[in-house]
Amino acid sequence: MDADGGQEHNRAMADSMPLAFVRREVSEQRQRADELYALMQRRRSVREFSDEPIDLEVVRRCIDTAAQAPSGANKQPWTYVLVTSPALKKRIREAAEAEEQAFYGGRASDAWLADIAVLGTDWRKPFLETAPALIVVFAQSRGATEADKHYYVQESVGLSAGFLIAALHFAGLATLTHTPSPMGFLSELLERPKNERAVLLMPVGLPAEGCTVPRLERKPREAYLVER
Ligand SMILES: Cc1cc2nc3c(=O)[nH]c(=O)nc-3n(C[C@H](O)[C@H](O)[C@H](O)COP(=O)(O)O)c2cc1C
Repeated sequence: MDADGGQEHNRAMADSMPLAFVRREVSEQRQRADELYALMQRRRSVREFSDEPIDLEVVRRCIDTAAQAPSGANKQPWTYVLVTSPALKKRIREAAEAEEQAFYGGRASDAWLADIAVLGTDWRKPFLETAPALIVVFAQSRGATEADKHYYVQESVGLSAGFLIAALHFAGLATLTHTPSPMGFLSELLERPKNERAVLLMPVGLPAEGCTVPRLERKPREAYLVER
């Protein structure tokens, strides 16, 4: 018992429940860590999509997985818009390509263009129409009312999108983290409220027959892991 006679001070009366945690032997932990590493090492951004239909229930389930991510004060400040209407995909492609033309034609700095040259991308985004689905990720700057504040929105939405990318890859679907800039046209076309801002436009589907990806290298562990 605490000095003040209760155990609930500082804990805004949250209802609690047992943690569903699976304790594993170290050998099993290693095996699972290796398995996930191997799986994620095979994930690549895909820019050539097949128009083959996909099971949308799989995509919805992957979005459910994304919604299990941690978020600042559990505000879950994300909205996922799943677009499959060919007419809407066409309008999104046209608007995205207009922004991309401005980007490649002068808005992007020389350094930026040099950095993405290895990807072989240009303003054309046919995959926005070819892919059977697009997921547009929106970040909510606040809740439905002014009083409903959100915290660490960028971090939370980034984590959720990471869950989504991993879930799609694990399920056997390909995606691309696409960011035409600016993305205001998506709020308009998808009729989203003022407190939502589009942050990612992700085609989802199967890679086109013979799809290739740029040969990229990951930094070695010494470059990203610091131990003290
Ligand atoms: C926040 C973010 C924005 C990105 N924007 C674009 C984009 O607009 N167009 C594109 O072709 N790729 C985009 N990418 C994909 C990256 O180029 C890609 O992840 C990187 O080159 C590594 O390749 P990989 O995903 O195949 O491992 C983006 C990735 C991230 C994380």
